Amino acid sequence: MSASTTSTASRDARFAPKAPSLPLLGRALGYRRGNVGALEKIRDDHGDLVWIHIFGGLRVLAFLSADGLEVGLRNKDGAYSNRLGWERFLDHVFPGAILAMDGDQHRYHRRILQEAFTRANLDGYVAQMNPVIGRRIESLRTRRSADIHPFVKSLTLDIATRVFMGAEPGADADRLNRAFVDAVEASIALVRVPVWPLPYYKGLRGQAFLAERFRQLLGDKRAQETPDLFSKLCHVRSEDGEAFTDEEVVHHMVFVMMAAHDTSTSTLSTAIYHLAKHPEWQERLRKRSLALPDELSLDELEQLEEHTWVMNESLRLHPPLPFMPRVTVADTEFAGYRIPAGVLTGCAPVVHRDPRLWTRPHAFDPARFSNERAEHKSHPYAFAPFGGGRHLCVGKRFGQLEIRSTLHQMLKKVRWSVPDGYEMPFQFMPIGKPTDGLPVRITAL
Ligand code: HEM
Repeated sequence: MSASTTSTASRDARFAPKAPSLPLLGRALGYRRGNVGALEKIRDDHGDLVWIHIFGGLRVLAFLSADGLEVGLRNKDGAYSNRLGWERFLDHVFPGAILAMDGDQHRYHRRILQEAFTRANLDGYVAQMNPVIGRRIESLRTRRSADIHPFVKSLTLDIATRVFMGAEPGADADRLNRAFVDAVEASIALVRVPVWPLPYYKGLRGQAFLAERFRQLLGDKRAQETPDLFSKLCHVRSEDGEAFTDEEVVHHMVFVMMAAHDTSTSTLSTAIYHLAKHPEWQERLRKRSLALPDELSLDELEQLEEHTWVMNESLRLHPPLPFMPRVTVADTEFAGYRIPAGVLTGCAPVVHRDPRLWTRPHAFDPARFSNERAEHKSHPYAFAPFGGGRHLCVGKRFGQLEIRSTLHQMLKKVRWSVPDGYEMPFQFMPIGKPTDGLPVRITAL
């Protein structure tokens, strides 16, 4: 079957450029460790549609332009499957993950899930997360230095425990954290056999721990509606009255907590890094924050315009999810190439550093997101840290609120800096993070 009625493509995608094979492994590894420059170089040398290898051997047809992202993520002709793209990574580690669903099944789950993220529900989540953030930030004031990545990871886990699970942060935090870390690592494990001490085995064990934890709490959550996400998932109905079964609630909880945790941690870490490198921006944002109360409502958080530019600029330069896999399920075409069914493709937000779309793409320049400049609107897929199309991040607004609230409260309580000349070492795969923990100096205000 062909997804396009009339084919204008003249070349077979098998003959699309290939990134050269010997340095390829080095490049793939470089990409994993954080060298997004490796992908930029591949794009500059070979064009917007290139065969690359990732994770030490997987052959992927990479879409490296905004048009490519639009084709793969928007999936207008239905030729790209999320299920086949993601299931090789998520399979038993995240069973029932909405990201690995297609068509009617995805529509059904998405309709119910998004009811948990209505404005009214988000309002309630903000009210719950604010004091949790305040307590953690307060603990920074007695310190003279901190490793920001582990600090933020504990903070976002506290938020998830309170807002998603409706439980008291602290108890069991290490165990929960370990389970999530193991599950995420297992998702990119090369050897997928459940044998100790392989990462895949540990990931499955982590998944089982998390699922069991949620099963134990299910009865209480079903019995009474409370303002946390877990309870919402037990009680939400789509407009047509559809609801989740117990096992569906458990699977969505595990996946949503994973999807929310490392991505928000990554964005907060990189925003804190950029504000340390650019004290003039830190002061500019602080001035605005100091004029406001510590705990802001959803509306007030959304009005923090310059905080939003900094958040977006951090997401542009360091997108937490650097690879979005899809598999073609029909013959299709792109950029003059015929792509047959069964090809693993990957959408990479390397487009965030594309000089055709952004001025001085490597510079930290938050005002590019201002209404006057609006560089992110140069193409509908120029800026896609939350993906796009039907699988656009369902927690996008939640994540943005969490990031704005944390930055706002941190700016009010402490000033932070990094030594002159410090450059954050960054690993992009599987989810971006500073590999040195991002040490910063702290001064209480
Ligand atoms: C800055 C933070 C975040 C970033 C950068 C981010 C990024 C993304 C991206 C790129 C996708 C699409 C992947 C693809 O199409 O292959 C996605 C999907 C998803 N995200 Fe997020 N995310 C963030 C925060 C969150 C939060 C806070 C939640 C939950 C509260 C969440 C839940 C989800 C879910 C459930 C999906 C799958 C949606 C679907 O398949 O319909 N994310 N996210």
